Amino acid sequence: MSEEEEQQLQTNNGHAKQAEESANPIQSKELRRKKFLVYVALFTMFQIAVILFFSLYVMKVRTPKFRVLSAKFDHLETRNVGNASFNITMNVELAVKNANFGPYKYKNSTIYFYYNGVSIGEAFISQGKAGFKSSKKFNVIVNLSSNDVLAKDLKLRTDLSSGTLILTSKSKLDGKVKLLFVIKKKKSTEMDCTITVGLTGKVVRDIECN
Ligand SMILES: *[C@@H]1O[C@H](CO)[C@@H](O)[C@H](O)[C@H]1NC(C)=O
Ligand SMILES: *[C@@H]1O[C@H](CO)[C@@H](O)[C@H](O)[C@H]1NC(C)=O
Ligand SMILES: *[C@@H]1O[C@H](CO)[C@@H](O)[C@H](O)[C@H]1NC(C)=O
Ligand SMILES: *[C@@H]1O[C@H](CO)[C@@H](O)[C@H](O)[C@H]1NC(C)=O
Repeated sequence: MSEEEEQQLQTNNGHAKQAEESANPIQSKELRRKKFLVYVALFTMFQIAVILFFSLYVMKVRTPKFRVLSAKFDHLETRNVGNASFNITMNVELAVKNANFGPYKYKNSTIYFYYNGVSIGEAFISQGKAGFKSSKKFNVIVNLSSNDVLAKDLKLRTDLSSGTLILTSKSKLDGKVKLLFVIKKKKSTEMDCTITVGLTGKVVRDIECN
């Protein structure tokens, strides 16, 4: 801005002020006071909005989701003569989905598999981290066997002959969500999934998680 322009502006402002004040000095003072109050109100509202946004949205600790994404069978053998039984080696893809505005670090854990409420196998889950608003995916390989299922379990017999096996997986992760790089909040997440296996095709037909 040149000096000339600046002077021009100053004189313009001066004129405007003078005109206002000379027209009605009391009213214009009142007007300025009102304007000021409006600015204060707007600024306060803006600050409240920012605080609410941070406390309700950014700083909110969301429970990460721990799920079975998919499963493949490296080995799947069933027998339905004599005592019904199965031996399965399953490669399971798991995901820890973290919707927080900061990473979720979880500790070593275990995933347990059940058939009809009876334990059939488990796998180790090594500690890890799901980043800022993202999912951490990994695989575990587990051997599942019906050794502990009652030898004369009628349900197993029926399921094996019908060609559908319903397995459940349960696990719990303990960990911490880190917000704004410093604030750490403890957060646990539980898995409870139902995996429906088609025995003839050796495929997973359905996975449902709560
Ligand atoms: C599964 O393995 C057990 C031994 O671990 C064996 O007794 C059983 O016959 C096997 N069943 C099948 C269907 O392979
Ligand atoms: C079935 O299981 C029972 C009890 O575990 C056992 O005594 C029996 O020998 C088994 N039968 C066969 C055919 O494996
Ligand atoms: C988690 O498991 C790994 C691998 O077994 C082990 O080296 C590590 O010490 C474990 N961490 C804790 C905190 O137990
Ligand atoms: C599963 O069983 C097979 C054969 O018994 C064994 O070689 C493998 O190490 C086992 N895998 C796991 C993850 O336990």
